[in-house]
Amino acid sequence: MRLLIEKAEKTHSLGKDEIAALLHDEDSTQALLQAADRTRAAFVGQDVHLRALIEFSNYCRQNCCYCGIRRDNKQADRYRLKPQEIIMHAAAAAKMGYRTVVMQSGEDVYFTVDRLTEIIREIKKMDMAVTLSIGEKSYEEYQAYRNAGADRYLLRIETTDKELYHRLDPGMSWDNRCRCLMDLKSLGYELGSGSMVGLPGQSIESIADDILFFKKIGVDMAGIGPFIPHAQTPLADAEGRAFTLSLKTMAITRLLMPDINIPATTAMETLNPNGRIIALNSGANVVMPNVTQGEYRKMYELYPGKICVNDTPARCRTCIGAKILSIGRTIGSGKGFRGEFLKENQQ
Ligand code: 5AD
Ligand code: FES
Repeated sequence: MRLLIEKAEKTHSLGKDEIAALLHDEDSTQALLQAADRTRAAFVGQDVHLRALIEFSNYCRQNCCYCGIRRDNKQADRYRLKPQEIIMHAAAAAKMGYRTVVMQSGEDVYFTVDRLTEIIREIKKMDMAVTLSIGEKSYEEYQAYRNAGADRYLLRIETTDKELYHRLDPGMSWDNRCRCLMDLKSLGYELGSGSMVGLPGQSIESIADDILFFKKIGVDMAGIGPFIPHAQTPLADAEGRAFTLSLKTMAITRLLMPDINIPATTAMETLNPNGRIIALNSGANVVMPNVTQGEYRKMYELYPGKICVNDTPARCRTCIGAKILSIGRTIGSGKGFRGEFLKENQQ
């Protein structure tokens, strides 16, 4: 295992069997996480980039079996922010010093191209990077958002095991999700994808495929988090909660794609009170603090036990800022695009 870790750290390349062997092995976990931390330091530096997350609607036309805001969850309290409220959330985030907003929602048909492009244009006036995380759309829609100024897009592939994907995402097509990722890339978005770890029926080998998939399509960001079962979904009794395996998946992703952005995910902190810091010490370099205001924080419940639901945007900013500084890292002052650190340090 030591040799495999060394190989990954030197060449940033591993085969599927090698990745799977590392994921299976329990004795080499610490060495793996440490190697990812060194690679993170060398390729993206000490800065942690903060992205302000606005959860602007939990209406969703999709019915993913793992997700608490799936269409068939009639117990979910639905809400959507008014366009003006979204813009106010972004302005408040800018005032707190954020340079990126992530606009995330379920697939809510209320937000037409006209409504969303208008919101994006307003936020772009604040000199913020805009990231969208609003699901599967047509090429034309992605193009309209890009033309309005959107910089990045997050769309997790969730799993590269097609059969598992089709079982867990009824009515959806894995090929269409791939089409979306290709469209986004061709339109010049910074592309974020990612996966869940610990899904029922997910094999270690398919997780190795997930990592190789990120590399193959050339993602600029990869968000990897543990699956956490939600009581009001068909997967209520599934196990999930694979904290260490998620960390290892993230660490190998860092070793193989040394200069991409990797968030310390909220789901990791949900399973471990120090989860984001552990992730930041194992390859991650991004955190996405929640800037959604009031009761909506609770209502955007993809999984139970979500952190910070009773906190305020200001408190989360202070809290995570202090944690980042406490481990000797710095807070990025720019927009944190991929490759910035390497460019600056080569000159
Ligand atoms: N546990 C963990 N992550 C989840 N997501 C959705 N439901 C869950 C869950 N139960 C993740 C998916 C989605 C992202 C926004 O949240 O990967 O893409
Ligand atoms: Fe929200 Fe710590 S990040 S309270």
